[in-house]
Amino acid sequence: MVTGGLGFIGSHTVVELMEAGYEPVIVDDLSNSSPQVLDGIERITGRRPLFYDYDLRDKAKVKEIFDRHPDLQGIIHFAASKYVGESVENPLLYYENNICSLVHLLHEALAHDVRRFIFSSSCTVYGEPDSLPVTEDMPVKPATSPYGNTKQIDEEILRDSAKAYGLQVIALRYFNPIGAHPSAEIGELPVGVPQNLVPFITQTAIGLRDELRIFGDDYPTPDGTAIRDYIHVVDLARAHVVALERLMEGRNKEAFEVFNIGTGRGSSVREVVDTFMKVTGVDLPYRITGRREGDITAVWADTTKAENELGWKARLTMADALRDAWRWEQKIRNKKSNP
Ligand code: UD1
Repeated sequence: MVTGGLGFIGSHTVVELMEAGYEPVIVDDLSNSSPQVLDGIERITGRRPLFYDYDLRDKAKVKEIFDRHPDLQGIIHFAASKYVGESVENPLLYYENNICSLVHLLHEALAHDVRRFIFSSSCTVYGEPDSLPVTEDMPVKPATSPYGNTKQIDEEILRDSAKAYGLQVIALRYFNPIGAHPSAEIGELPVGVPQNLVPFITQTAIGLRDELRIFGDDYPTPDGTAIRDYIHVVDLARAHVVALERLMEGRNKEAFEVFNIGTGRGSSVREVVDTFMKVTGVDLPYRITGRREGDITAVWADTTKAENELGWKARLTMADALRDAWRWEQKIRNKKSNP
């Protein structure tokens, strides 16, 4: 079962699962996705996965899916609200959507004896790290938003459930996912004005936004702009397949495991902008403005544990991801102007 399987990371994971021979059952409430994503998945894989337009807050619906699919081998849980700003304005939406849904899912999973669980966590749990790169055993810092808090609470719920009920859990802490499928059949579909860097860049490059604002060039970094670990969404998707296989083969060492999923390399905002212009040949209009509230200076992953234990390593570069994101942006805008 892939919850949120029509979203950005979910849809790419569905493709990787299908290409590895799995038959994913998608559950997605379409709150931040579109049923047309199924067409893209079908064009890439040649098959159309099963899909339920269900909201996981509805416990009866969750039970129904487990009843209908007694052969489920595991759950990859992406479905969640993900906007930091929105979570500050409407925290209860986030606590209900990101926490109650997880609890419903776990209740039914255990009742139906489905015990393999992969969870979408985030590097946001590290806050502003004391040292870099960050390893999985570094302390989880107090969350600075309800969104970040839900990721921390969800990890705790899963850790306790793994201990109490024999659930086998892998939490993947994503760094900054970017890019799109190289086929340009699926990609990110931000609603409204994008908050994240790369969709804002591609929308500016295509002429939908006037200019990119670089939020601060007075950070204590080599070029003054903030540093993140940008990971290609296809590499990230692959990590889920590898994690599922670890659980299927019983190779996990503990009932609750955590892995950083990043490239292990930090890039500054300026480097991302320069690389985008280099790989696409587009002259991107940008301006330096003040820092964005809540942003940290720098974070990137130590990926040693993922490499040694999962046997997973990012293969694609930031340049690959920017090229794929650009191809996707061009494709969706052309489609919209020539329906
Ligand atoms: C954000 C979320 C994080 C979430 C992640 C998902 C915040 C504070 N954090 O991380 O919880 O898990 O997205 O991808 O929202 N930037 C600009 N101009 C822009 C947009 C961004 O300069 O128009 C800069 C930011 O200041 C930051 C970098 O680009 O330094 C990356 O920003 P973004 O893509 O929003 O990701 P994060 O803030 O790292």
